[in-house]
Amino acid sequence: HSDQLKNTDLMTLTRFILNEQHKYPEATGDLTILLNHIALGCKFVQSAVNKAGLAKLIGLAGEQNVQGEDQKKLDVLSNDVFIKALTSSGRTRVLVSEENEDAILIEKGKRGRYCVVFDPLDGSSNIDCAVAVGTIFGIYQVTEPEREGKIEDVLQPGTKMVSAGYCMYGSSCELVLTTGEGVTGFTLDPSLGEFILTRANIKIPKAGKIYSVNQGNAVNWDAPTTAYVEACQKKTKSLRYIGSMVADVHRTLLYGGIFLYPADKKSPSGKLRVLYECFPMAFIMEQAGGQAFTGKGRMLELVPTKLHERSPIFLGSYDDVEDVKKLYAEKA
Ligand code: AHG
Ligand code: MN
Ligand code: MN
Ligand code: MN
Repeated sequence: HSDQLKNTDLMTLTRFILNEQHKYPEATGDLTILLNHIALGCKFVQSAVNKAGLAKLIGLAGEQNVQGEDQKKLDVLSNDVFIKALTSSGRTRVLVSEENEDAILIEKGKRGRYCVVFDPLDGSSNIDCAVAVGTIFGIYQVTEPEREGKIEDVLQPGTKMVSAGYCMYGSSCELVLTTGEGVTGFTLDPSLGEFILTRANIKIPKAGKIYSVNQGNAVNWDAPTTAYVEACQKKTKSLRYIGSMVADVHRTLLYGGIFLYPADKKSPSGKLRVLYECFPMAFIMEQAGGQAFTGKGRMLELVPTKLHERSPIFLGSYDDVEDVKKLYAEKA
């Protein structure tokens, strides 16, 4: 910790984004302002998650969300915080949250050109036992100035995202971000309340020794998924599954390996949501040299038709996902 104090050239998230945007003469600083508001939301959720047990924030909020899931108090609190932070940034046009059935269209006078899709609290089933949870976001942009946002602005393939990221509230608070020029990791320094750059230009190992899947669904998997997981077991790969996508993906990004939430007989489209879980993580994985596959094609090329659409997903080290693609190609 001492050398960090000696290092007075603190590269904060804000400075990093400003440096990035200087590459674009036409940049207006809008993305910097937007990402700063997202970071503010993350800092708030981090402090709420840390105090959850003490502040009786755990437990059910007594509501069901559009997913039919019991909403935990922190799901609702986090959602409110992000909606307020994004709206007050004055840089958004459309907001889509896991916790809201319909898109939020920003009122005249507060509109900007970015559309943000987000999962305010990912892995909320892990809150009550204090296991890592997170926030996931993806950012599209609209070109026409001033017109009201519309749902078509966010029913776009992941290839149209201009930025994506996640914040993991774990033993440390880690924010991982891409604006299409590689992947950068920041760690929250609570004494400064700043996200400090700790991992420049993250690259995922080309192949890994870890696979991450909910083994409990094995009885319902299709043949290629079954064959792939059996091959992992034959190679004595390690199984690591936290049950928070952000935590499982963050470990996969840093250590290598594969994360999969496949289709199964009960959930033919899998469980994870395209807009605010699959696309942001797929964008980050590709930018880090990995890839993401749906079982049929490249994750980012999927064109969503509904806000809360789900998709099977296989993401992580390039070679590991190639192995899955080969098995699905054989079956096709
Ligand atoms: P959320 O808490 O935002 O609804 O997301 C939960 C997701 C994801 O975080 C995780 O990968 C997956 O649910 C775990 O699902 P299973 O418990 O079915 O394995
Ligand atoms: Mn949920
Ligand atoms: Mn989630
Ligand atoms: Mn969630």
